[in-house]
Parts: sequence; C-alpha cells; structure tokens
Amino acid sequence: VAVLSNKRIVVTGGSAGLGLAIAKALREAQADVTVVARDEGRLEAARETGAHAIAGDATDAVLMDRVIAHRDPDVLILNAGARLPMARIDELSWEGFSTAWDTDVRATLIGIQAALRTPMRPGTRVMVMSSGAAMVMSHPAISPDDLRLSGGYVGAKRMIWFMAHQADAVSRERGLGIRFQALVPGQLVGATELGRTVARAYAEIEGVTVDEHILRKYGSHLQPAQIGRQVVELLSEPEYENGIAYGFRAEAPILPLDVQGPR
Ligand SMILES: NC(=O)c1ccc[n+]([C@@H]2O[C@H](COP(=O)([O-])OP(=O)(O)OC[C@H]3O[C@@H](n4cnc5c(N)ncnc54)[C@H](OP(=O)(O)O)[C@@H]3O)[C@@H](O)[C@H]2O)c1
Repeated sequence: VAVLSNKRIVVTGGSAGLGLAIAKALREAQADVTVVARDEGRLEAARETGAHAIAGDATDAVLMDRVIAHRDPDVLILNAGARLPMARIDELSWEGFSTAWDTDVRATLIGIQAALRTPMRPGTRVMVMSSGAAMVMSHPAISPDDLRLSGGYVGAKRMIWFMAHQADAVSRERGLGIRFQALVPGQLVGATELGRTVARAYAEIEGVTVDEHILRKYGSHLQPAQIGRQVVELLSEPEYENGIAYGFRAEAPILPLDVQGPR
C-alpha cells in the first residue's frame, strides 16, 4: 500500500534487525528511505529493499547534521543500538557496563540535536528506539532478574524514552512543530542479533534452548516484521500523532503508553 509515498525517512541502524525490518516495511509503503549504519557490507541488505544507504556512525554529529540537511527527512528514526556484552554486574568493566550509553544514548542525543539544530520542518517526526526493559520496576510483568545481565542497558533505554520528552519540550518552546516519540518493543525480539545474544546468555544459565527461554519468559515471539508494519501504522494514522511513547507486543495492536493531549 502506498501510504507513505510522499515521505522521506531516515533510519539509523537500518542494516540489520529491527531497523532493517522497519526500513523494509517503509519501502513497502512506498516511502523514500535512507539507512545509516557503519558496516558497508551489511548495508547491502538495506539497498536490496530499495533504500539509499550511507555508511557511517550515528554517534557522529557532523555526519548526522549532513544527513538531515541533505535528505531533509519527514521522519527520522533513531534506532541504532549496540550489542551488549551480557555479564553479571561483578564481571563488567565500566566500558562493558556503559555500552548502551556510549552508543544508544549517545546516538540518540546526537540525532535529536541534529534534528533541533537544522531544524527539521514543522510537522516532521523523530522516533527514538527505547525498550520494554525501560519499564522494569514500574511494571510487574518485567522482572529485574530477567534483565540482570544487561549492565547499564535498562537505564539507557529509560533515558532514551525521557529524551523524547526533553526534545519535545524544546520543540514546543521554540515553536518548531517537530514531534518526538519513543518506540517501545515490549518483548525480547529473538530474531535479531542483539535479541539472540541476550536470550542466549539467560538460556545458558537456565540450561534451555534460546527458543524455550523466550517462550517461557515472554510467552510468544515478537517479530521484527510486525514492528515494521506497526511503525508504518504509527506514521499513517492520525490517532498516533500526539503520543510520546508507543509499545509493541506479539500479535497485539499498537499500545499507547505515554499519551498526552494535543500539542
Ligand atoms: N532485539 C530486541 O529484543 C530489542 C528489544 C527492544 C529494543 N531493541 C532496540 O532496537 C534497536 C535495534 O536492535 P536490534 O535487536 O535490531 O539490534 P541488531 O540486530 O544488533 O542491529 C543493530 C543495528 O544498529 C546498527 N548500529 C550499531 N551501532 C551503530 C552506530 N554507532 N551507528 C550506526 N549504526 C549502528 C548496526 O549496524 P552496524 O553495526 O553495521 O553499524 C545494525 O544495523 C536497538 O536500539 C535495541 O536496543 C531491541
């Protein structure tokens, strides 16, 4: 369906996993998509969807300023995220512990600042990739023990969600009309490299397979393609314009998490 045929969309980390699935779904909806990721070889998968590909680091401010100035996007999706070392807190160096801060939070900050500095046009949107892990200790279904090997990831993903609020406040104060929204996959996505790394670490301790671990902890498999389709829905249905955060769960409709009045 050509629902996004007039939209230019930039996706960071769009060469694999969730970012690639989002890029694919956006291309199927006829959007003009540009993907930014570091490894030139892996960008081929993005090119195969018909997306433009830029080899570069989403934590590079000069690059992100240039991408936004040249591509002039209607939507910027800040999805780039690091793979985690996965270890107990007594085994992690600061470098390992802060992996998600050094890539995910940093790239989100750089992307948000580029969007606000350029600035993107009124009516444009910036989506940042958080995680259901961000809701640990505030949602009974998400147990701290199930996240005990992920170092600083939980705080990093909570930070990213809050950064959508911080950026949205700046946009409102400056009258820019850019909307900032957080994407919150509510379950581990085992089909990505990051998801598999995470699931493998717990499965080993539990003495079960990766599949068994995911089904036991999360009850079902959340698929990247579903997230891709639901991002298209978020961008095409007016009812999703005002919320700050939207969640995804396997075979469930989009879950509005942090919705405010008209902005
Ligand atoms: N999988 C899950 O269960 C899950 C759940 C909730 C949220 N998330 C979040 O969703 C996002 C994507 O995760 P994923 O599971 O799809 O991971 P993935 O399969 O490891 O893919 C990560 C993507 O990000 C790119 N990337 C990493 N560092 C980058 C950088 N500095 N600059 C530009 N691109 C970079 C990678 O390409 P290069 O390495 O070539 O740059 C790759 O395209 C992450 O923010 C993650 O935290 C994942």
